[in-house]
Amino acid sequence: MSHHLTLLPGDGIGPEVTEAAVRVIEAAGVDVVWDRHRVIGATAVDRGRPALPPDVVDSIQERGTALKGPVTTPVGKGFTSVNVQLRQRLDLYANVRPATSLKGLDTPFEGVDLIIFRENTEGLYSGIEYFDERLDIADSIARVTKRGSERIIRFCFEYAQEHGREHVTLAHKANILKKTSGLFLDIGREVSAEFPEIEFDDRIIDNLCMQLVVNPEEYDCIVSTNLFGDLLSDLTAGLVGGLGITPGANIGDELAVFEAVHGSAPDIAGQNVANPTAMIRSAVMMLRHIGEEDAAAAIEQSVFEMYREGDALTPDVGGDATTSEFADALAERVTGMVGG
Ligand code: NAI
Ligand code: MG
Repeated sequence: MSHHLTLLPGDGIGPEVTEAAVRVIEAAGVDVVWDRHRVIGATAVDRGRPALPPDVVDSIQERGTALKGPVTTPVGKGFTSVNVQLRQRLDLYANVRPATSLKGLDTPFEGVDLIIFRENTEGLYSGIEYFDERLDIADSIARVTKRGSERIIRFCFEYAQEHGREHVTLAHKANILKKTSGLFLDIGREVSAEFPEIEFDDRIIDNLCMQLVVNPEEYDCIVSTNLFGDLLSDLTAGLVGGLGITPGANIGDELAVFEAVHGSAPDIAGQNVANPTAMIRSAVMMLRHIGEEDAAAAIEQSVFEMYREGDALTPDVGGDATTSEFADALAERVTGMVGG
């Protein structure tokens, strides 16, 4: 059976790491017909098109699932982040970002196995922003809704239940942000009562950041609002070896877009040195989502082997291989494992 999926290579290191992922999926024997859309973000704006062209949205709506590379967002000016727009337009309200220690990789901690569940459509990223030129005052409104909070918190608990996880921590700043973070925390307490078998607690975000860099092994599922979830997931990526290895998924009730936590990394773009592991592991999450468990497991096990053996690792994780050398070596292992 062939899968019809959308591929957004993105920009910066995006095309390099998504191509690596496509190769490895092919090596696993999964038959995918990709609908590729290269024109997005600055590439689209330069051609006089919207940063998020309608054909990209249409493709994902039709096919249901996408694999996406990072897209650069101009800082402090220019178009609204394509990444944020896409999550809002497609109502991909749950951003799932696991951070798990990889055996063989030398990091300060060994037993980290946690998942950040970030609310992906509202909060401080709602896009409600003003600058009053007369008064020189800037406002960015954090809009938190009961519905938005409830669905991400419920998603987190249900995920925990399905995946045999035991503990949910809600990250907030309800001591200061009494309305927005306060609402999120209240709803967390309400929803948690429906899942008595899952332990629930909450942490004020600043304290949680400190705890995470001291005792990350003690955390399991962490649910939070948009901005905090964004920050926490880069922090937890750093605990397990960096942005080169940590995957992610944007999930809604109907549609899903899989992408790494990292951005377009302009500092290393076009050099064939980016680590494609994060994108490949995002593809593993995607394969599970579309029911290709065997292929997902084969790729995942092969990634673990590569790290255990230190085979063809990229410079960010202490090796000297290129993006394509890593992809070649991985594809070969995967083919061997699926009996190709
Ligand atoms: P970044 O995540 O692109 O890079 C941060 C640092 O990590 C850089 O030193 C980079 O070289 C390194 N890095 C990231 N991914 C790597 C990989 N796969 N292998 C090896 N090293 C890697 O964050 P930065 O520089 O703050 O943002 C660059 C651009 O990316 C910005 O325009 C930002 O808006 C955009 N961005 C896009 C995202 C998306 O498309 N979902 C997510 C985050 C940022
Ligand atoms: Mg981020």
